[in-house]
Amino acid sequence: MFSHERIIIRRGPESGLPIIVAVHSTALGQALGGCRLAVYPDWADGLADALRLSAAMTDKCALAGLPNGGGKTVVALSSPPDDAMRQAALHDVGTVIEDLGGIYATGPDVGTGPDDMVTIGSRTGNVFCRPTSAGGSGDSSPGTAVGTVAALRAVCAARFGSPALDGRSFAVLGLGRVGGRVARLLSEAGAKLVVADVDPARRALADEVGATWATPDEALTAAVDVVVPSALGGVLTPASVAALRCSAVAGPANNQLDTPSTADLLHARGILWAPDYVVSAGGVIAATAVELRHETPAQVAARLDGIGDTLGRIFAMAARDGGTPSTAARTLITQRVG
Ligand code: PHE
Repeated sequence: MFSHERIIIRRGPESGLPIIVAVHSTALGQALGGCRLAVYPDWADGLADALRLSAAMTDKCALAGLPNGGGKTVVALSSPPDDAMRQAALHDVGTVIEDLGGIYATGPDVGTGPDDMVTIGSRTGNVFCRPTSAGGSGDSSPGTAVGTVAALRAVCAARFGSPALDGRSFAVLGLGRVGGRVARLLSEAGAKLVVADVDPARRALADEVGATWATPDEALTAAVDVVVPSALGGVLTPASVAALRCSAVAGPANNQLDTPSTADLLHARGILWAPDYVVSAGGVIAATAVELRHETPAQVAARLDGIGDTLGRIFAMAARDGGTPSTAARTLITQRVG
């Protein structure tokens, strides 16, 4: 079904690269979604990613109770860019967003960070998460990580009858800006950890937090309480779900399911899956709380904690109706967005 409001695909005037902005929905307000800078086999793969990621942002904002819709920007690279090309691409992103006249604003995502938001911001004001020194709310990953931990407490409450993390075991897949923080927070809370990253340099963090280092495949199929996907999407497939040995899967990676029906396979195996668009909402929640609503740190913390309540409600609905958390979440989204 074609459900996007507007999709812009433009050859960047400064970079010559494909700049893709997908605005999925503005039904609840300005569409929000980060800017992803990534290498794709073909630009059309970047388009497919933008379409899926922007639709997920609509779900994320709706369930986070934000007056916003979903969008996403993808710069589809064919090889890693040099600095000049990167700057040119970010300028192009700003130009395309400015041309949209305010229906969409961006923020950081895979491959971009706060400094990049300054570069985009030289062309448009519709950008979140510039560094605090430049008037923004800074890196969104601390908020995403704190929200993820609130979600993990809700998962433990639903699955094991207690929200305590102490003594529970987690496999964190991906130790990037968000996953690295999640691993630290879990370790501080007394959890047992298996961690993995495609970058061998991240092993230092594993040692620092007393985690067992594993390959991404080993971590995914580790015999732990909860697997926490914290890197790129698509890790849950019919084949990987069949190999899982955990009781639950919940993490901040966007678009974890290869296709929506994989949620049914998880349910059939008795594995509780927390919809990723609920778990990962902390970044956008914190950025908009600070930059649009000027909330205090205590108010932001309460909002991030609310992710656990939302998830608890979804799990309770699913248990009551005998359906999956995905179906329950979809019901709530339809109530909010229509
Ligand atoms: N990368 C964030 C996400 O996927 C997007 C974002 C963060 C957008 C902060 C705006 C502000 O949710």
